[in-house]
Amino acid sequence: METILSINQLSKRYGRIQAVNKLSLEVVKGQVFGILGPNGSGKSTTLGMILDLIRPDSGSFTWFGEHPSKESRKRIGAVIETPNFFPYLSARKNLEIVAKVKDYDNSDIERVLRTTGLYDRKNDKFKTYSFGMKQRLAVASALLNNPDILILDEPTNGLDPQGIAHIRELILQVASEGITIILASHLLDEVQKICNYVAVLNKGNILFSGEVHDVLAISDCIELASADNAALKAAIEAHPAFHSIIESDGILLVVFSEDVRPGAISEYLHQKNISLSHLTERKRTLEQHFLELLKDNES
Ligand SMILES: Nc1ncnc2c1ncn2[C@@H]1O[C@H](COP(=O)(O)OP(=O)(O)O)[C@@H](O)[C@H]1O
Ligand SMILES: [Mg+2]
Repeated sequence: METILSINQLSKRYGRIQAVNKLSLEVVKGQVFGILGPNGSGKSTTLGMILDLIRPDSGSFTWFGEHPSKESRKRIGAVIETPNFFPYLSARKNLEIVAKVKDYDNSDIERVLRTTGLYDRKNDKFKTYSFGMKQRLAVASALLNNPDILILDEPTNGLDPQGIAHIRELILQVASEGITIILASHLLDEVQKICNYVAVLNKGNILFSGEVHDVLAISDCIELASADNAALKAAIEAHPAFHSIIESDGILLVVFSEDVRPGAISEYLHQKNISLSHLTERKRTLEQHFLELLKDNES
């Protein structure tokens, strides 16, 4: 697996505030990597540092296995603040200017306009665009020169539901073309829908990181009850994937160490002559997990 970005013990302090605290992470090719954290957790500062916009106090990072350079910068597309284009110029013209500043030729402009769904409006002035279209133009601009990685900081902030849906679809489409993505967001729902990997950030520290799927799977539990809960409990504890059990109001909440389907459990118990009066899968969402992590971090 090719490492796209490797961050090693990166720190940044603003006066008394430790915005980012010895943060380390790796992003590998093809990942849609979510940096999830509440406001002020250090997401933007982290992105600013890896884009050479903010100077770290200490720590280091590499892009594509090498020291950051002008060449590596050309392989990175980023949308990190509210889009800033010339209001009286068209999308097409604005992109020509971006291309000129970045020393790219104009051959990629039509492609990025199509990708972002702005092709039909390419000759309209920027100021006539909806906020969602403005944001998509920012993505178009970041996609110029076909980068290996696209970095987005809170890309759906301030958008209406339709605008949000458009941007999310666009991100997934870009990801499906094999472009690695880093998405910073304070929205769990967004990370859950878009990302396959997540690092949960709080107060400049990574609390947890892993595949989004794993985060969900670990926290699933199955509710069980039978006429003889003692026998049920013994049988469940003997299951090879058994992890833990909580008893509450005559219902056993069982967590398995791997993904175990309710059907398989029912079958397993049936073989042990235990019949269930209750069987429900309870998904603890990433949100609950996330909130719990934050609570732990506070105390
Ligand atoms: N230029 C700055 N000057 C002083 N404090 C800052 C500056 N930029 C960020 N901070 C502080 O650093 C912390 C992290 O901010 P930021 O990286 O913007 O978080 P996020 O993007 O997760 O909301 C916050 O407490 C914020 O107030
Ligand atoms: Mg931010």
